[in-house]
Amino acid sequence: MALEFRALPLTFLAHALAIAGAVMVLVWVLYYRGGMAWEAANKNLIFNLHPFLMLFGLIIIGGEAIMSYKSLPLKKEVKKLIHLVLHAIAIILGCVGIAAAFKNHNESNIANLYSLHSWLGITIISLYGIQWIYGFLVFFYPKGSPTLRSECLPWHVLFGIFVYILAVGNAALGFLEKLTFLESSGIAKYGSEALLVNFTAVVTVLYGAFVILSVLGQAPVEDDDSYSAI
Ligand code: HEM
Repeated sequence: MALEFRALPLTFLAHALAIAGAVMVLVWVLYYRGGMAWEAANKNLIFNLHPFLMLFGLIIIGGEAIMSYKSLPLKKEVKKLIHLVLHAIAIILGCVGIAAAFKNHNESNIANLYSLHSWLGITIISLYGIQWIYGFLVFFYPKGSPTLRSECLPWHVLFGIFVYILAVGNAALGFLEKLTFLESSGIAKYGSEALLVNFTAVVTVLYGAFVILSVLGQAPVEDDDSYSAI
């Protein structure tokens, strides 16, 4: 499926949404929630690393990795390298973000993995890792034959879109869950913090939509390896 529209203008909108989402989550954790720390007596500061690293790392850097084939006027081989390095950064930041959520739970005597959000989260980071390793082996090193690569590409794109949509949905679920906890412990349902968190989730979903649309659109310069033909 290759749709008849150019992807590049959509990637500009996606970059703007990425900046807005990153600023909004930073304002939330730094101004409203007291900041972020790996070691702290106030265990909430350890948790605060989680939303920031999941949104900025897994969703935003991961989205930029997906769009790199459509947003950069570079040669195929260079774009491939940028794609795999950005995805590696996204996975590493995602793993540190999940580790921060576990550390917060462990040091606060809260049970681990009790929610749908946490089950989906573990599934997503595992599938993301598998997708990266299989992509690396088939498309980069040791690299399959041209036939194997062209047979694998549509599956790589399809599986990548599936995992990414799941990640965006789960981030929205995470914002909802945390805001529900905060509202149960007293913050105003229509207050400025609640609006900020809800709108951060809206921006996250819009960013995800533009990332996926850019995958379906045409690359600036058609090349064999662009994510257009699925
Ligand atoms: C796709 C991105 C995300 C993934 C893969 C993910 C994954 C996870 C995982 C695996 C846990 C379990 C930690 C444990 O059991 O000790 C967790 C906990 C949590 N996450 Fe996320 N998360 C993501 C984004 C977010 C975002 C953006 C928020 C917004 C605040 C958030 C809020 C929470 C909350 C409140 C918990 C603790 C309660 C629970 O375990 O469900 N998450 N997350």
